[in-house]
Amino acid sequence: MYRFTEECLTGIEKIDDEHERLFELINQTEDLLKNEMLEDKYNQVRAVLKELGDYAVTHFANEEAYMAAINDPELEYQKKQHMDFREKLYKMDFYNIEDLENQHEALDNLLRFLVRWLYQHILSSDIMIGKMPPLKEWREMADPCAFTDEYRTGVALIDAEHETLFEIVREANDLVKEEFVHDKFDRIVEVLAKLKQYTEEHFQDEEEYMESIGYPGLEAQKMAHQAFVAKLEELDLEQIDKNQQEYLEELMEFLFGWLSNHILRSDKLIEAGV
Ligand SMILES: [Fe+2]
Ligand SMILES: [Fe+2]
Ligand SMILES: [Fe+2]
Repeated sequence: MYRFTEECLTGIEKIDDEHERLFELINQTEDLLKNEMLEDKYNQVRAVLKELGDYAVTHFANEEAYMAAINDPELEYQKKQHMDFREKLYKMDFYNIEDLENQHEALDNLLRFLVRWLYQHILSSDIMIGKMPPLKEWREMADPCAFTDEYRTGVALIDAEHETLFEIVREANDLVKEEFVHDKFDRIVEVLAKLKQYTEEHFQDEEEYMESIGYPGLEAQKMAHQAFVAKLEELDLEQIDKNQQEYLEELMEFLFGWLSNHILRSDKLIEAGV
């Protein structure tokens, strides 16, 4: 049973309802696969998977339409992710599994792929939908990366690490805004590498802490962390080389937006144990 947790909520009712429906279909598939009594279970599994695939496509269209309506800067990125997913699903061609002996394994693998993808996608990309507009103001703030009290979780180690993360983002952002540094892009690449390394260390420390207190939201946090690291790994450094100021500005918004959101919406719950 895969749980549609708090962490997955975007706060946009229609999108959340659709995500929840996707989880229902995933759980339905899992129940069928586990059921030893059903005679034609594989046909039933295929039917639910087909429904799931179709529903995901409808959902993507709705989500993209919503993002277009609010001018969400992540729209193009999301479209690309949705397209990749559709292609992968299509390539798997699970309606025509010839090797019937191994169909259980094939369907099980497919299900795992779907769950992993959806979790990661929702936790890294969808939870950011609609969260970017206030960040427009962020560009105009004197010190947007100031680590103000609202970010404090109450756990000293975590707070200190978050503060360092904000400092690294500030360093990157200052470079992005800087007009007269001649090796600006090389330095930005360096700072981003530092950010990635420190982020990974921080996630590890935070996860260890959550484990030590038996925090129930640990799994959801791990997923969110993995998704963010995956995004850092995907960064297109060539774009940075090509002096793409706009790309860098959007990247800074994304990094700061994700981190501040994650701290405010997730990390702050750790101390409360919920
Ligand atoms: Fe979505
Ligand atoms: Fe976290
Ligand atoms: Fe954190």
